Amino acid sequence: MNDFETNVRNALANPQNQGEMTDADQVGTVGSPDCGDMLRMWLKFTEKDGRKVIDRATFQSFGCQTAIAVASMATELLKGKTIDEARSLSANDLTGSLGALPPMKIHCGQLVEGALKNALDGTTTSPEASHPTLSDELQKPAGKIKIILQTPQG
Ligand code: FES
Repeated sequence: MNDFETNVRNALANPQNQGEMTDADQVGTVGSPDCGDMLRMWLKFTEKDGRKVIDRATFQSFGCQTAIAVASMATELLKGKTIDEARSLSANDLTGSLGALPPMKIHCGQLVEGALKNALDGTTTSPEASHPTLSDELQKPAGKIKIILQTPQG
């Protein structure tokens, strides 16, 4: 197993900042056209030294393990960043100490980057009811396609 995969496995043992943020200022959601996975990111801002910076970031993912590990790392890296600093981060920047994304996993990092940019572009999270969880959203009919989540058979 290469270093990146080992680091992803270690990150998944204790993922950071997972879950909906009910008092978020902005939220962004993306779906990957490559694999159909989805990721949502919530951002909360604060004022520091006269600058608006990210105070907290959380995520929820219906994605692969790489996307979860990158989102975990990214939501830690984003703390204290201004909007411009956060916007300038590429998928590979967001992987932090996980290391560079292998070619087959680049779109997994781009899913996290996309959710971040979407959140920075700013859907304001108010009222909260207009932003159900990903699970709620996936269970709604989407156009002509209805997605039904499978529950594991015991
Ligand atoms: Fe879909 Fe990684 S395989 S985000």
